[in-house]
Amino acid sequence: MKKNIAQVKKIKYPGFLVTGAIAGAITLLYAFAPMPGKNTPWIAPATADAVKNPIASDAASIEAGKAVYKKSCYDCHGKKGKGDGPKSGELDQNPQDFTKPEFQKQTDGALFWKISEGRKPMPSFKSEITKEQRWQAINYIRTLK
Ligand code: HEC
Repeated sequence: MKKNIAQVKKIKYPGFLVTGAIAGAITLLYAFAPMPGKNTPWIAPATADAVKNPIASDAASIEAGKAVYKKSCYDCHGKKGKGDGPKSGELDQNPQDFTKPEFQKQTDGALFWKISEGRKPMPSFKSEITKEQRWQAINYIRTLK
């Protein structure tokens, strides 16, 4: 019997080939996803600026903030806050550089809001650490410029 075009085109692809092709396409998409450092600006709401730091920036609070930082922030933000912690390479967003004037010119209230809320891959610290610990961490971050 003579085969017509329609019959020839009706080739069945085995399921694993189709799954493989889809998985391959997804892998490629991830491989070409934007590289770290291409963050869209992260701006705290104006209401956050009005919130004042209730913890005095003295030696004791800076020391306490350093301990918080070492435990909860260091992995991503790095020893000097340059965004080069041991985990920073795995993040799809750059953790920023705390030593830059553009960073340091933000109010304590804005930093408090960002630390509390988080933004992927930075976690929210609202229930991770106390408010006091967040303010102490800010007092410490202020010494990194
Ligand atoms: C899992 C990694 C990770 C951990 C842990 C982490 N951060 Fe972050 N952080 C990031 C990333 C990534 C960004 C940038 C987010 C963005 O721009 O979208 C960021 C941004 C910030 C910002 C805002 C930077 C800016 O330019 O305004 C502050 C402030 C901050 N982190 C403080 C902290 C503090 C304090 C801790 C610890 C209590 C902490 N972070 C823990 C990853 C992390």
